Amino acid sequence: MKNITVLMGDGVSGEILSCAVKVLDRISQIYNLSFKYNYVPIGGRAYEETGFPLPNKTVEACLKSDAVLLGAVGDWKYDNLAPELRPEKALLGIRKKLNLFANLRPVKVFDELLFASPLKSEIARDIDIMIIRELTGDVYFGEPKGIITKQTLDNREIKVGFNNMIYDEDEIRRIAHVAFKSAQKRKKRVCCVDKANVLDVSRLFREITTDVSKEYNDVELSYMYVDNAAMQLIQNPRQFDVILTGNIFGDILSDEASTICGSLGMLPSASLSDGKTPYLYEPIHGSAPDLAGKNAVNPIATILSVAMMLNYSFDNKLACDSIYRAVKEVLKEGYRTRDIFEKGKELCTTSKITDLIIEKLR
Ligand code: IPM
Ligand code: MG
Repeated sequence: MKNITVLMGDGVSGEILSCAVKVLDRISQIYNLSFKYNYVPIGGRAYEETGFPLPNKTVEACLKSDAVLLGAVGDWKYDNLAPELRPEKALLGIRKKLNLFANLRPVKVFDELLFASPLKSEIARDIDIMIIRELTGDVYFGEPKGIITKQTLDNREIKVGFNNMIYDEDEIRRIAHVAFKSAQKRKKRVCCVDKANVLDVSRLFREITTDVSKEYNDVELSYMYVDNAAMQLIQNPRQFDVILTGNIFGDILSDEASTICGSLGMLPSASLSDGKTPYLYEPIHGSAPDLAGKNAVNPIATILSVAMMLNYSFDNKLACDSIYRAVKEVLKEGYRTRDIFEKGKELCTTSKITDLIIEKLR
């Protein structure tokens, strides 16, 4: 029996999570597995219920479980809350509390969705990139940070905002190992993306990554500045296998990479720790409050997140592949949610496409 904590967030989160759980239930029948779900609130939902976006009880539930599944958090109605109470704070908080330093964002394009990519099909075809984003450091968490006032030379008082882009050697080393190990199972190439022409922190990132690469002779390491990487992702995305990068660059590049696959609604993610705390799985898209309750959102990113869970937390590659195969077959047969709709195909609701995927599982 595996215990899964399901973090119920905002917007469409309830809908997509229930689809993912339905898929897991069918998988458990086919593969003779047993899952128990514990639903706890996070983000705006938790704020409404308890006054805090990340209540202790939510953290404790996660720590006790074998894996964590998260919908998405955030809603415009919380935009004016104090920074500490905003739903996004809960997301950063749970990443830190569970020590989820390695964020894996696979960027793969399904042939059936090439039309939806803003890139020409001949450029987008066969994109298969693994973005490995460091998730618990960088400007996201660096101290000191804040907004203070200072006196100018001409005696005016003005505000100054600052964050600290900071990485220590240990943090870089552990994420680099994740990247090289991942590359060993793929096309054996790692591209370290940074801003080493300007930033000291990036120079250290490169230095340590180069050092770690010596333990992986079978993997080829290259380097690229982040501005160039943003361009290369559009011009020639197939050159990439594993992209290793820091928290903020990874945040930006993974959104860019996702859109070249046709829809943000297709991409899953896994956040891994050193193994002492459970891993967390979530779609990379947001909570889409405008779509909430309409049975119209694309559940595939969350369904594929569950596939990643089966692979990384429960070591069941067969079950993971079964979900990917089912999704592919459903797309091939012409079923589409709104975000990936194309003339001549059949428009499906969230629940309909989930049921179709479930029928294909074996
Ligand atoms: C992501 C999101 C988050 C991040 C936000 C919502 C805090 O954009 O998971 O990519 O910046 O990490
Ligand atoms: Mg992001």
